[in-house]
Amino acid sequence: MATDHEWDDMLFSGTAVHYERGRLPYAPGLADALAGALNLDGRGRLIDVGCGPGTLALPLAHLFGETVGVDPDSGMIAEAARKAAGRGLSAKVRWVRARAEELPAGLGTFTVATFGQSFHWMDRDAVAATVKEMLRPGGALVHISDLKTETRSVEAPAHPVVPRSAVEELVRDYLGPVRRAGRGLLPHGTPGGEAAVFTRSGFSGPRRLVVPGGQALERTLDDVVAEVFSMSFSAPHLFGARRDDFEAHLRRVLREASPAERFSERQPSTEVFIWWRDPDGRPPRPTS
Ligand SMILES: C[S@@+](CC[C@H](N)C(=O)[O-])C[C@H]1O[C@@H](n2cnc3c(N)ncnc32)[C@H](O)[C@@H]1O
Repeated sequence: MATDHEWDDMLFSGTAVHYERGRLPYAPGLADALAGALNLDGRGRLIDVGCGPGTLALPLAHLFGETVGVDPDSGMIAEAARKAAGRGLSAKVRWVRARAEELPAGLGTFTVATFGQSFHWMDRDAVAATVKEMLRPGGALVHISDLKTETRSVEAPAHPVVPRSAVEELVRDYLGPVRRAGRGLLPHGTPGGEAAVFTRSGFSGPRRLVVPGGQALERTLDDVVAEVFSMSFSAPHLFGARRDDFEAHLRRVLREASPAERFSERQPSTEVFIWWRDPDGRPPRPTS
C-alpha cells in the first residue's frame, strides 16, 4: 500500500527497553474477555498492529494458532522477540518490522486484528481499509486502550500518588512547552474519533467492553522513571546530552514526593472496541 503518510523512525526510539518496567499492563481479565466476545478457541490467526514489545500479542497468543506482531521500531521488535523467547512462544509468534502502511506485506489473512494504543499514530483510513481486506469472513478489528476517564488514584493508598503534574512540568522545563514527538512537535496531540474512521472503512459495530482494573498497585521510583522514558513525548533521545541531568532531576522530584520511593496507583481498566468486518457482526469462527 503506497501512501504519503510519513513515519518518524525516532518516535519511539529507545523507549522499548523501558516498557516492561514502566508501563502498566492491560487489565488482567483482558484475554478472557476477548476469548468470550470473539469466540476464540486456540485456532485462527491474530495480527497485532503497532505491537510494541508484545504487550498484547504475547498475552493473547494462546488464544490463536498463530500470531504476527507488526511494528516499525527495531527496538520494539527486538524486545518483543526477547520476551517471546523467554516465555517459550517463539514458535507460535512471528515479529515483522514494518509500518502498518506497508501492509498487507504478504502476511496472509487473519481472524482478528488488534491495535493497542497504536492506531492514532498511523495513516488511519488507509490502514483500516487494508486491514479490513486482510480479515477473514466474520473477522474482527479490535481497538484497545487504557480507559482514560477514570482516576489513577486508589482509596486509602499505602503510599503517595505519582506526582504527575510535577513530572510533566519538569519534562516541559527540559523539552519546551509543546509536546515533542520523534523529530518534530505535536501541538494538538494525536487524533481521536477512530469510530468515524472504522465506520467510513465499512466495519460494523462497535461492541464496547470495559475490562475492570481497580487493583491497588505499588510502584517503585525506578518503575516511574521507566514509565517516563517509555513515553514518546519524553523518550530518552529527546533530552540529548541532558538525559542524565534530567533523570537525576526527575529522581529528586519523585523522592521529594515519596522519600520511601514507593507510590500507590490504581490498575487502569481496559477499554475495548470490537469492529466486525461483515455487516452482521458475527463472531469469527477460527478455521486453522
Ligand atoms: C504506545 S505504543 C503501543 C505498543 C503496544 N501495542 C501496547 O499496547 O502497549 C505504540 C506503538 O505503535 C508503533 N507505531 C507507530 N506508528 C506506527 C505505524 N505507522 N505502523 C505500525 N506501528 C506504528 C510504535 O512503534 C509503538 O511501538
